[in-house]
Amino acid sequence: MIPNKAALLISLAGLVLTGLLLFLYFASPSASIRPEQPIPFSHNVHSGIKRIQCQYCHPYAAYSNFPGLPPVEKCLHCHNYIIAEHPWIKKEHDYFETNSSTPWKKVNYMPEHVVFNHQRHINSDLSCRECHGRVQDQHRLKRKTWRMGECLNCHKKMDANIDCWLACHS
Ligand code: HEC
Ligand code: HEC
Ligand code: HEC
Ligand code: HEC
Repeated sequence: MIPNKAALLISLAGLVLTGLLLFLYFASPSASIRPEQPIPFSHNVHSGIKRIQCQYCHPYAAYSNFPGLPPVEKCLHCHNYIIAEHPWIKKEHDYFETNSSTPWKKVNYMPEHVVFNHQRHINSDLSCRECHGRVQDQHRLKRKTWRMGECLNCHKKMDANIDCWLACHS
C-alpha cells in the first residue's frame, strides 16, 4: 500500500500548492494593476477636466457588442489644433501615417463563455459609472476581470433576468 500512500501525499501536496498559488495571484497587487498604455491617455484630463462625453469617443456602446476604442483620426480632430507639437501627439501622427491603430492595452476581461452586450444595459438607463466606476477621475484605468457574481448581484438588485444564465451563456 506504500505506493498508494505516496501518490495520495503527492496529490495533496499538489492541491495545497495550487491553492497557495491561486491565493498569491488574487491577493497580489499585480492582479489589479493599471497597465501602462502606448500613449499616456488620461480620462481624467479628457472627461474629468475637459468634460468630453464618454460616448463621443465610445459611440458604439449603445448599439453594438463592441463599444470599441476611438480611432486615431478622432484624437487628431482635436489634436491637430490642441497641443499639436506635444511628443505624444506626434506619436499619434506616426500611427496615423503608417495606417496602424494605437495598440491600446485592454483592461476589462470576461470569462470566454460569457456574452456581454452593452446595448440592453445602456438602453435601460444604467450609467457607465455603475459598472466602470468613476473613469473620469482616473489617469490610467485599472485592469478588471468580471465575475459572474457581479452580474448576478446587480441583476437581483434591479430585478433583471437571472434565468439569464441561459441567456448569457453562449
Ligand atoms: C474633443 C477634443 C479632444 C479629443 C477628441 C482628444 N483630446 Fe487629448 N486633449 C484635449 C485637451 C483639451 C487636452 C488638454 C490640453 C492642455 O493641457 O492644454 C488634451 C490633452 C491630451 C494629452 C496631453 C497629456 C495630458 O493627458 O494632459 C494627450 C497625450 C492626449 N490629449 C491624447 C489624446 C488621445 C490619444 C486622444 C484620442 C484617443 C485624444 N487625446 C483625444 C482634447 C482632446
Ligand atoms: C477623448 C476620448 C475618450 C473619452 C472622452 C472617453 N474615453 Fe474611454 N477610452 C479612450 C481610450 C483612448 C481608451 C484606451 C486607453 C485606456 O484604456 O486608457 C479608453 C478606454 C476605456 C475603457 C477601458 C476599455 C478596456 O480596455 O476594457 C473604458 C471602460 C472606458 N474607456 C470608459 C469611458 C467612460 C465611462 C468615459 C466617460 C466618463 C470615457 N471612457 C471617455 C478614449 C476616451
Ligand atoms: C452593466 C454594466 C456596464 C455598463 C452600464 C457599461 N459597461 Fe462598458 N463594459 C462592461 C463589461 C462587462 C465590459 C467587458 C466586456 C467584454 O470584455 O466583452 C465592458 C467593456 C467596455 C469597453 C471596452 C470594450 C472593448 O472593445 O474592449 C468600453 C470602451 C466600455 N465598456 C465603455 C462603456 C461606456 C462608455 C459606457 C457608458 C455609455 C459603458 N461602458 C457602460 C460593463 C458595462
Ligand atoms: C449595474 C447593474 C448590472 C450589471 C453589473 C450587469 N447587468 Fe445585465 N442587466 C441589467 C439590467 C437592469 C438589465 C435589464 C435590461 C432590460 O430589461 O432591457 C440587464 C439585462 C441583461 C441581459 C438581457 C437579459 C434578458 O432579459 O434577455 C443580459 C444577457 C445581461 N444583462 C448580462 C449581463 C452580464 C453577463 C453581466 C456581467 C458581466 C451583467 N449583465 C451585469 C443590469 C446589470
